[in-house]
Amino acid sequence: MKEFKRTLVTTALPYANGPVHIGHLAGVYVPADVYVRYLRLKGEEVLMIGGSDEHGVPITIRAKKEGVTPQDIVDRYHTIIKDSFKEFGISFDVYSRTSSKMHHQTASDFFKTLYDKGEFIEQTSEQYYDEEAQQFLADRYITGECPHCHAEGAYGDQCEKCGTSLSPLDLINPKSTISGSTPVLKQTKHWYLPLDKHEAWQKEWILEQHKEWKANVYGQCKSWLDMGLQPRAVSRDLDWGIPVPVEGAEGKVLYVWFDAPIGYISNTKELLPDSWEKWWKDQDTRMIHFIGKDNIVFHCIVFPAMLKAEGSYILPDNVPANEFLNLEGDKISTSRNWAVWLHEYLQEFPGKQDVLRYVLTANAPETKDNDFTWKDFQARNNNELVAVYGNFINRALVLTHKYFDGKVPACGELNEYDQATLKEFADVKQQVEKLLDTFKFRDAQKEAMNLARIGNKYLADTEPWKTAKTDMERTATILHLSLQIAANLAIAFEPFLPFSSEKLRKMLAMSSFSWNDLGKVDLLPEGHQINPAELLFEKIEDSVVEAQVQKLLDTKKANEANSFTPEAIKENVPFEDFCKLDMRVGTVLECTKVPKADKLLQFKIDDGMGGRTIVSGIAQSYPDPQVLVGKQVCFVANFEPRKLKGIMSEGMIISAVDADGRLVVISPSDVVKNGVNVG
Ligand code: 2FM
Ligand code: ZN
Repeated sequence: MKEFKRTLVTTALPYANGPVHIGHLAGVYVPADVYVRYLRLKGEEVLMIGGSDEHGVPITIRAKKEGVTPQDIVDRYHTIIKDSFKEFGISFDVYSRTSSKMHHQTASDFFKTLYDKGEFIEQTSEQYYDEEAQQFLADRYITGECPHCHAEGAYGDQCEKCGTSLSPLDLINPKSTISGSTPVLKQTKHWYLPLDKHEAWQKEWILEQHKEWKANVYGQCKSWLDMGLQPRAVSRDLDWGIPVPVEGAEGKVLYVWFDAPIGYISNTKELLPDSWEKWWKDQDTRMIHFIGKDNIVFHCIVFPAMLKAEGSYILPDNVPANEFLNLEGDKISTSRNWAVWLHEYLQEFPGKQDVLRYVLTANAPETKDNDFTWKDFQARNNNELVAVYGNFINRALVLTHKYFDGKVPACGELNEYDQATLKEFADVKQQVEKLLDTFKFRDAQKEAMNLARIGNKYLADTEPWKTAKTDMERTATILHLSLQIAANLAIAFEPFLPFSSEKLRKMLAMSSFSWNDLGKVDLLPEGHQINPAELLFEKIEDSVVEAQVQKLLDTKKANEANSFTPEAIKENVPFEDFCKLDMRVGTVLECTKVPKADKLLQFKIDDGMGGRTIVSGIAQSYPDPQVLVGKQVCFVANFEPRKLKGIMSEGMIISAVDADGRLVVISPSDVVKNGVNVG
């Protein structure tokens, strides 16, 4: 493995069109912060770069709705987001924004360099234009009748009623949302990054040289690369963003996904105007992008192509993207207000930042989507933080004060049990390191908690409150060792629970921390005076989480009241008609996107009868088809075979259509034999 001199950690720039929620924290910012704190504690040279993504159409729409400027919107949310991160201890070296002068200049220069090098192609296409407002219309600014479900008010990129992805040209009777007029088609020129030209080196770079990337990341890249890369437009007709810096580009701005990742560079420059280049252009720098799974293609394929085209930049060494965090079984959604907002949590749970950090890491969506529930939040707090970690620390410190006036007592001879205990935690450093180095934050935190369990068990088994009646020397040894374990815990948990570690450090009167001290048993010398014990964590009562659950139920009720009405029931059918359908269960063996078909997935199903291929139009509901592999699904087995995009499809996968139009495959609730009937 290559040795690097320094690590540049970037974190996805959140859109400044709303506050941040637990999904942001769990997916990107807590893992990145744990990683960076760990490296800093090891004494490594590391930078953590963050900032707000302040361009893009949703921001302009929000501004229009509220009758304010886009700048007003981003000013408002940038401040809220920045404050929330700070309160949660996310230790950015810089948190800036893409509306800054520095960023505009940097992104503009970057574009110009690529333009001058001939790295773009220019293409003219027809797009909708509002003659009254005299402007081209972004997809979201056009509404009309959905060609599929015929609902009114479908957007140019998607019908929210049936969930189908659309192109503005698909809409029946399109209207501009700006003036209400019917838009006309007009030619417009844009610049495209020819990703197809980058495909060959990217295949080698990712598929051959980065096999160590997380399976979810590698899998998504592979499926993009296997499908074949297409040129991507890097400009838009819009009046909010960074103007395209070439002649004849009036009214055009850089596409938000072109300028946003350059924000990482701009923000590094802002922090280190004189030495930023060593972080971006030196092969001894290791760059890691922390992102959510919806950003994988931009960070693994598009941004690297931009960097390579520029020519003087390094490429990311790893992109440990996470899957999504759901909330109480439902997808987190800003528009449905289905979220735990960080600024609200901070008000409702003052001083409990570490509890949320702990729960989000314990439940991190590292390999698959995970669920946050308030019950689990309470249980992890009460049964782990309070009952194990907090309890151990409290007992060790209180007993030291009680029997030794708060001075670290002498360590006498160790008995077999002491030695066995020490042995148990001797390799904690190595264990945690191995996990953190490979971005397995859940397991790493589990190891740290295991150390607290060892301590807790040691006290419970050795019972110093009993030995104190007969043998003070033995009591001293037990508490001496317990305090060393406590000091180790302060270090091991620092990346995960920085506030609690700081509190514990102060209680133990430790001057500083170093990762290299982890595993040592002489951190607190005999006679060292510790401070009074305070509680590290407090129990969370049922009523508190019940109130949170109620808040969500209220949101759900409000959403249901103004959104979903089930469709009318279709005409009755006789039983014999139902029996004509032959529905079965099978296991998905393979599931891949069908090349050049946005909506199709190709399944290989173990149907218990030798296997079959089914092509299904649910690709847009499963951006990462790998999540379906291994799942049992229901399918119609006697559906007349038909060819879709040249592939013979032998059946139909059965899905439910969610209220937001998302298709969700139907699976048996327990595993059954492949090929059994459904009926
Ligand atoms: O998905 C998002 O929230 C984007 N704003 C992330 C941008 S990451 C980077 F490229 F800036
Ligand atoms: Zn529709």
